[in-house]
Amino acid sequence: MADLKQSQSLCLGVLASHTGTNFQAILDRCLSGELPAHIGVVISNNSGSLALRRARHAHIPAVHLSGKTHPVADDLDAAMVGVLTQHQVDVVAMAGYMKKLGPRLLSAFDRRIINIHPSLLPAFGGKGMYGLRIHEAVIASGARFTGVTVHLVNEEYDQGPILLQEVVPVLPGDSPESLAARVLCVEHRLYPAAIRHFATRYHS
Ligand code: GRF
Repeated sequence: MADLKQSQSLCLGVLASHTGTNFQAILDRCLSGELPAHIGVVISNNSGSLALRRARHAHIPAVHLSGKTHPVADDLDAAMVGVLTQHQVDVVAMAGYMKKLGPRLLSAFDRRIINIHPSLLPAFGGKGMYGLRIHEAVIASGARFTGVTVHLVNEEYDQGPILLQEVVPVLPGDSPESLAARVLCVEHRLYPAAIRHFATRYHS
């Protein structure tokens, strides 16, 4: 982490595929000063994503990079590293990014990529566990608690070291949708908190 820029606010690069409410929650706390960070760039694999629209609305560089812009996987991997580096990103925050990261990106930002997952990992994580599927599986299991996990990203889905977790109760009569909504509210608070801890740790 020696190359983190000292004495400046942490520069985040956000990766998001769809709605971008977690990106918005992070941005709002950056703008309010609660989070000593700023967002240098948002990258999405989805050119029509609300996340990119939110970024443009906030005058944050918004870049579409995908198999459409770069059909060769290694070229896409290199382009993502290039954009993040060009914008002097310190830490990459995955916020609902639905694609696996390439080896160049994982290496260039080793231990500087974080992700948020809407369950208490290692429970209800791994390949195929995304969106409402997670909350459907939680309810089907009979679990009385689920939650939110922020973790470092490595080459395996949802398996990097855990930074922060918070428990969310599963209530009688919860549908996957109602549970997802309650979990998402916690995500919006927990992700900025995790980034704050992360920033403090690496700036000290
Ligand atoms: C969140 O539930 C996040 O935990 C998961 O994808 C969802 C993204 O939601 N990885 P949003 O795009 O931030 O609204």
